[in-house]
Amino acid sequence: MDKPRYYFTGDSEKVDLDFSKLDFSYIACPYRFEAVYEYGVWRVRGLLEGSSMEIPEGSQCLHYGQQLFEGMKAQAGADGEVYAFRPHDNARRMNAGARYLRGPELPEALFVRGIEEVVAANLPFVPPFGSGAALYLRPFYIGIGDNVGVKPASRFVFRIFVTPVGPYFKGGFGADQGKAFMVTRFDRAAPHGSGHVKAGGNYACSFWPGVEAKTKGFAEALYLDPAEHRYIDEIGAANFLAFRDRTLITPDSTSVLPSITRESLLQIAAEIFGWPTERRKIPLEELDEIRAAACCGTAAVITWIRQIADGDRVWEFPFDERWQRLYDELVGIETATAADPFGWRHRIPV
Ligand SMILES: Cc1ncc(COP(=O)(O)O)c(C=O)c1O
Repeated sequence: MDKPRYYFTGDSEKVDLDFSKLDFSYIACPYRFEAVYEYGVWRVRGLLEGSSMEIPEGSQCLHYGQQLFEGMKAQAGADGEVYAFRPHDNARRMNAGARYLRGPELPEALFVRGIEEVVAANLPFVPPFGSGAALYLRPFYIGIGDNVGVKPASRFVFRIFVTPVGPYFKGGFGADQGKAFMVTRFDRAAPHGSGHVKAGGNYACSFWPGVEAKTKGFAEALYLDPAEHRYIDEIGAANFLAFRDRTLITPDSTSVLPSITRESLLQIAAEIFGWPTERRKIPLEELDEIRAAACCGTAAVITWIRQIADGDRVWEFPFDERWQRLYDELVGIETATAADPFGWRHRIPV
């Protein structure tokens, strides 16, 4: 077999990790990809070593939150290839954020090139097929400069680091792995604010409710719509899904991050399984009528919801086989054990 272009250490057995025991924490990998924006153009810096960055103390990302990030995965396929999942969609979502935060868009081709290069460079850290782990990719975008005024930056850094990860919620997916969530009255974003883009500030605002939920023994906080606190919005870093009878439903809300996993699951449900799907407002009270609930995201994949608690009100949901079918199909497409009818797998040239 030909050696991959960026092999850095010989072979992956030299990576001293038990991939099947990983949780969702940071492990430094040797290479990251970087590009910088200056004088109106993006310049590729390429692959860099070392996890630290040096930026000016006046940088907008440090003071005014001019910052975006993405989260996606690369996985070893059953066919011996390595695949990223829908990287163009992450590039588009990041650029929607860049427009919103008044920064320059990153050419989609450059984003995808960065993904390809950084995965290939860190190939020994791609968990083996069947380990249940994945290489998590963290692209991010920051406004920098020698600045003190409240105004957008004129210089930007785009960087992607990678880290091998296991399940986001302890235990991962399984019929015995339902999680409990706590309804919070705090908001992560304003009704006409930044909830629909992946800006760091939204996440700073989720620390209080997230820590409170975990302190009380829940997996995460469940947010309601910030205008009225009547409708379900989303859960931590995952979108909400439920079955209302035969229909897969999900909140229609402008303050929710448009999850690429959710789009994928809705398309799988509609076009592969032929199930009805619906995006609409879901009042919290409708949980009385709902028999199956879950949340989904790159990190959470699909996590079925065993319980939602709002003070003294508690809703319980049993495991539903339809979550298993959706999970198997999604992971099958990601890892090439299933056909890829929508062209979502992006092969990494190594
Ligand atoms: C707030 C929030 N909602 C939902 C998601 C799930 O989105 P995706 O499926 O694109 O990972 C994420 C993760 O990126 C998130 O941070």
